[in-house]
Amino acid sequence: MSRRILMTAALPYANGDIHLGHLVEYIQADIWCRFQKSRGHECIYVCADDAHGTPVMLRAESEGISAEALIKKTRDNHVRDFAAFHIAFDNYYSTHSPENKALASSIFLQLRESGHIAEREIEQLQDAEKGIFLPDRYVRGDCPKCGTAEQYGDSCEHCGAAYAPTELKNPRSSLSNTPPVLKTSKHYFLCLSAMRDELREWTQGDEINPAAPDTRVTRLQKGAANKLMEWLERDLHDWDISRDAPYFGFRIPEVPEEKYFYVWLDAPIGYMASFKNLCARTGMNFDDFWRPGGNTELYHFIGKDILYFHALFWPAVLHHSGYRRPTRIFAHGFLTVNGEKMSKSRGTFITAEHYLNCGLNPEWLRYYYACKLNDRMEDLDLSLNDFNFRVNSDLVGKLVNIPSRVAPFLHKLFDGGLDECDRGGTDFDIMVRPLLDVEEQVATAYESRRYQEAMRLLMRATDTINAHVDAAAPWAIAKDTARREELHAVCSAATRAFHLLMLMLTPVLPLLATKAGEFLNTDMHWGEKLHPLAAKHVINKYKHLMQRMDNKQLERLAQSKKTPDKSPPPTKDEPANKSPIAIEDFAKMDLRLATITAAEDVTEAQKLLKLTLDVGDTRLRQVFAGIKQHYAAETLVGRQVLYLANLKPRKMRFGESEGMVLAATDGKGDLQLLTAADMPAGAKVS
Ligand code: MSP
Ligand code: ZN
Repeated sequence: MSRRILMTAALPYANGDIHLGHLVEYIQADIWCRFQKSRGHECIYVCADDAHGTPVMLRAESEGISAEALIKKTRDNHVRDFAAFHIAFDNYYSTHSPENKALASSIFLQLRESGHIAEREIEQLQDAEKGIFLPDRYVRGDCPKCGTAEQYGDSCEHCGAAYAPTELKNPRSSLSNTPPVLKTSKHYFLCLSAMRDELREWTQGDEINPAAPDTRVTRLQKGAANKLMEWLERDLHDWDISRDAPYFGFRIPEVPEEKYFYVWLDAPIGYMASFKNLCARTGMNFDDFWRPGGNTELYHFIGKDILYFHALFWPAVLHHSGYRRPTRIFAHGFLTVNGEKMSKSRGTFITAEHYLNCGLNPEWLRYYYACKLNDRMEDLDLSLNDFNFRVNSDLVGKLVNIPSRVAPFLHKLFDGGLDECDRGGTDFDIMVRPLLDVEEQVATAYESRRYQEAMRLLMRATDTINAHVDAAAPWAIAKDTARREELHAVCSAATRAFHLLMLMLTPVLPLLATKAGEFLNTDMHWGEKLHPLAAKHVINKYKHLMQRMDNKQLERLAQSKKTPDKSPPPTKDEPANKSPIAIEDFAKMDLRLATITAAEDVTEAQKLLKLTLDVGDTRLRQVFAGIKQHYAAETLVGRQVLYLANLKPRKMRFGESEGMVLAATDGKGDLQLLTAADMPAGAKVS
């Protein structure tokens, strides 16, 4: 039975870069989504930038630009980073959108009408110099319990005490370093404390398991449910959903004062708004996924730090404004790098952009995270040595090693055709059968977000395959013309096994799977049941599928400095024609290595693909390349190409083309992009 699933990942704040910690979540969710899609379910993955709030407002101010300009710029960067890591959102929107404004307003009015909003005068700290009410984190002072200096307004890092910012001794505003003043103001509250019973029931309850309808699953993980019990018993207060001006957000409608929605009210509503925006484009039905009784599933992937918002506030908001509550909430732990919290000063705060600039393959990180992820809220560690070892040993040494050892024989001696043993035979039973046997276990592991287990099962199978190829030694048999059948059998079975492995790895390694599909001459769709490649199936020429990780790349990653801002190179004259040229002429070319971060089909043009290139500086380049007949757009993202940066920009019907990507032809009309996978984007060619 095909399922209908809507899933979300938490909306990243619009005042910062995507870093490797964020990616734990977006990759975890992307793997799950790709898994569901590949098994034939409808699964829609939406996200957006979380655009509102005081930090965004202040950041824009400090950069001397409008909040709108800041959130636009940030969103562009986020979209670029996500695409490079193959995170395939069905929609990526912004909470600063008309849909979100309409939804947030109507939800507030519903809550008020059903009697769940209270009004109360409260005292708050204000920065008198700047005229801004201070969020807890913007007030610092001495802890009221233990007296430690320089503590935030919400809790003490030394003794762990939680308190209100008004309780701090010697408070100061972090904005102006002046003592804040107390001001009274009217605020709007969601009456959570009256919802204790229903929240206890919801957070501790279970649902029919949509993946196995005769079983039930809890809505929250055990650790999460326990945490919520503590909060419910001890700290359940009404929730202040309003903020005073100046604030970057939506005005609260139909109230006499100038008030704004607190960013955490409209942020989760942003999930709905992103989906609504998608519905308008695709004709999907919004209510099917957001009204009760729709027979659809709704999941939120989040980090453990925002559990409170998603498992208490959010279900309360939804339930009392006429919407459905999530089916389940999936919380994950935090990323550490070499065993420590990511930190800018220790150089372990690694942005997605920096990772890419080091020339590291995004799929390596996807695989590594998959090896580490399970269904609990445990933290996970990116140990750089282990990362290096796993990638080179598992992906390069074991996985792509399989076809590289057998495909040449299939081409040289059998015209690329497999044998007829697509159901049994000795080699089949040793290499292919175990994969068919383990299929359901792998699927269940993906479904339950125990990716670590899925990877372990698949790598164990990979070991078995390699061991059998070693023992059969095709390179030795190939010397004996009398043993052709034997050779054909082992090479065919190994190829079939590799195909099944890659099918089950598609959610984790989508680009590698696409390349494998090109080589195997088949489309890579898992479906309800795995089918080995048919008798006499013909494969294409093997091209190397993945490079090894280089120590130098990792060293560069560890020296986590962002690339300095550089302005794009000045454009020079066009290069000379084909008569002999002097070295000075060659030197006129500004050749760079660039990473393709996005590729799109230009539907109106026969030959053109629109490429977005990262050349290692702060500006992305757009190039229209006449390579449509040779490459499918989606296979290009993440590849590194040689790029002529100072070719005069050319205005085309579809936009401006800045420079050119270089390719070579083999004389027979086949064309290949010139690539160099071991260099960082922006590296100069000489
Ligand atoms: N804007 C809020 C979410 C609103 S959802 C309606 C927010 N943004 S965030 O940018 O701080 O974090 C986005 C997601 O990334 C969160 O789920 C957060 O837990 C996750 N992570 C941020 N840093 C992380 C690590 N170091 N490790 C793992 N996940 C991390 O919270
Ligand atoms: Zn303290």
